Amino acid sequence: MTHQILVLHGPNLNLLGQREPDIYGRETLSDVDAALRASAQAHGATLQTFQSNSESAFVDRIQQARTDGTSYMLINAGAYTHTSIAIRDALAAVALPFVEVHLSNVYRREPFRHHSYLSDLAVGVIAGLGVDSYLAALTFVLKQPSVRQRE
Ligand code: DQA
Repeated sequence: MTHQILVLHGPNLNLLGQREPDIYGRETLSDVDAALRASAQAHGATLQTFQSNSESAFVDRIQQARTDGTSYMLINAGAYTHTSIAIRDALAAVALPFVEVHLSNVYRREPFRHHSYLSDLAVGVIAGLGVDSYLAALTFVLKQPSVRQRE
């Protein structure tokens, strides 16, 4: 069974390309999404993307993934990574495999970015490779058997 992948981008990632480009790079979120979609399609997988600045919308979208056929998620929860027990609980509730992604190397930055509420639930964590963090995560996911698809 082929993968149905959901990519979730958290707060302020809508400003990618304009926001602190020295840290986050000059590519826009649409560039990132287009590259991910193309790579997924080339492997016969489908990929949906979602960005929200709102914690509740993020939780709602994760809950929706429980029944919409999603088999794997890539999640960059932005600052909510470091603050949100609600997002952690939603991920635990849906129990779908996911890779935690960060553009920047959070461990080279301020100490408050060193803790993640999500990492111990994630299959893996990729940080610091810029847009390649997402692409590396996708490459990994595309190699995994899809066993969790629920229609
Ligand atoms: C980020 C790192 C977070 O600490 C930050 O709040 C972000 C982006 C990253 O992709 O490097 O918004 O998740």
